[in-house]
Amino acid sequence: MAEIIDIRTNKQQAIEAASKVLGDGLPIAIPTETVYGLAADATNPAAIARIYETKGRPQFNPLICHMADLAMAEDYADFDPISRALAEAFWPGPLTIVVPLKTESGIHALATAGLDTVGIRVPKGFAGELIRAFGHPLAAPSANTSGKISATSAAHVEADLGGKIKLILDAGASDVGVESTIVKVENGKIRLLRPGGLPASEIERVSGQRLMRSKTASAAIEAPGMLASHYAPGAAVRLDAVDVGDREALIAFGASPVVGSETARIVLNLSPNGDLAEAATNLFDYMKRADASGAATIAFTAIPDEGLGEAINDRLRRAAAPRE
Ligand code: TXA
Ligand code: MG
Repeated sequence: MAEIIDIRTNKQQAIEAASKVLGDGLPIAIPTETVYGLAADATNPAAIARIYETKGRPQFNPLICHMADLAMAEDYADFDPISRALAEAFWPGPLTIVVPLKTESGIHALATAGLDTVGIRVPKGFAGELIRAFGHPLAAPSANTSGKISATSAAHVEADLGGKIKLILDAGASDVGVESTIVKVENGKIRLLRPGGLPASEIERVSGQRLMRSKTASAAIEAPGMLASHYAPGAAVRLDAVDVGDREALIAFGASPVVGSETARIVLNLSPNGDLAEAATNLFDYMKRADASGAATIAFTAIPDEGLGEAINDRLRRAAAPRE
């Protein structure tokens, strides 16, 4: 079973224990402001292979490489002026920027799936401190079995992967609750590869340009982890519900009453006040709770497609997609 160390009370012990396990080439679960990550040394191929093995990932997808700061990131990759400006504006924070790898960067091809680009992010808070202490970038997908809902607490990680990893660092519930936004600059234009915890509107405000959004096959190939039945709970998922049946769980948003709520298996509200940031924080935890109620279907009421709603609706469409 995994050892769990609470970084809020034992930070130094956590950094030492984590550096030891990471140095041994094993993955550990770390808190980030978006979701919990299953982290391993991005320069050690055996360590990265263990991430795929632990998640049960069917194929090698490029992983996000986490850095302590922009200066460290520039040791591994080349930043054009727009990518650098985005990094300066939003790091540390929930933004991943895809940039060309330097030759002989040291980041192993298993972390980038052999691409000549790398997705880099500087996480806020403890994870950044850990990376600075450890001294190597950490490759980290979300800390969950492939295809399942992302973990936003140490308890989620323990329930899913506790038998497979040595160490889980606990920082309580993740602040943001959905994965980072991923962008890539192409010929001076910014392409949104994955909506996430940084609203696209923020990037548009700082960059002064509209993001290119593509729901086309090429974007799907660039972000293969984002396909079809990702984020799937055990129950079926029904979107834009205006009523709920007695075998269903209801996950609502906002104050509008929903017909049938009195007899639903369980009723949860992502944000009774209609606050999208609060809804993002609660999303994955409530999906797990609704799933655990034994409901055949989870019915979601509509969520506005603005700000963080874009990332929430993206995850909900994947949860509702036909299963592989
Ligand atoms: O918030 C997050 O981003 C979390 C936390 C742990 O930091 N991490 C995360 O990583 O979601 P992961 O590995 O599950 O998602 C990586 C996504 C994949 O869809 C992958 O295809 C895309 O990023 N990606 C990574 N490198 C890429 C590259 N060079 N080009 C295009 N897409 C890339
Ligand atoms: Mg994931």
